[in-house]
Amino acid sequence: MKKVIEDALNAQIEKEEYSSRFYLAGAIWCETHGLPGAAKFLYAHSEEERMHMLKIISFVNDRGGVSKLGAMEKPRQEFESLEELFTKIKDHEVFITNSINELYGLTIQEKDYTTGNFLQWFISEQIEEESTFNNILDKIKLVGESNISLFHIDKELEAMAGANNNLG
Ligand code: FEO
Repeated sequence: MKKVIEDALNAQIEKEEYSSRFYLAGAIWCETHGLPGAAKFLYAHSEEERMHMLKIISFVNDRGGVSKLGAMEKPRQEFESLEELFTKIKDHEVFITNSINELYGLTIQEKDYTTGNFLQWFISEQIEEESTFNNILDKIKLVGESNISLFHIDKELEAMAGANNNLG
């Protein structure tokens, strides 16, 4: 694997690891603000991000590169509301989508079609994730954040956590 591709994949490993910690921070916030269902959903999503990280680590190592772990900025742990938290999450996923797209562009430029093919899974995954978080955010905005609305949203996120448990 070319060094430029290895470096770019290592940068993505760092972003996926950060994503995992970011969702962990969100899960902790939810769990300590009376939202156990949202916490369960975000704990599960934190695990998913760890799986994304491991997927890239395994690919880099298998293709003759060496995965490297980076220094990590502490994620934000305080949020004004569930809407603010999910807005930050949605923005973060857009950032990750752009990062994956840039990485894919680099593989084309470097004629590394094997890595390009590997990244197809992530491209599809980002479409799914952006759609999931857009839908959740739309719902939060629609119902508002009264106690009863939050109760229902929390139940819905708990159900989604159960449904998504097997996703990689
Ligand atoms: Fe691994 Fe949510 O992007």
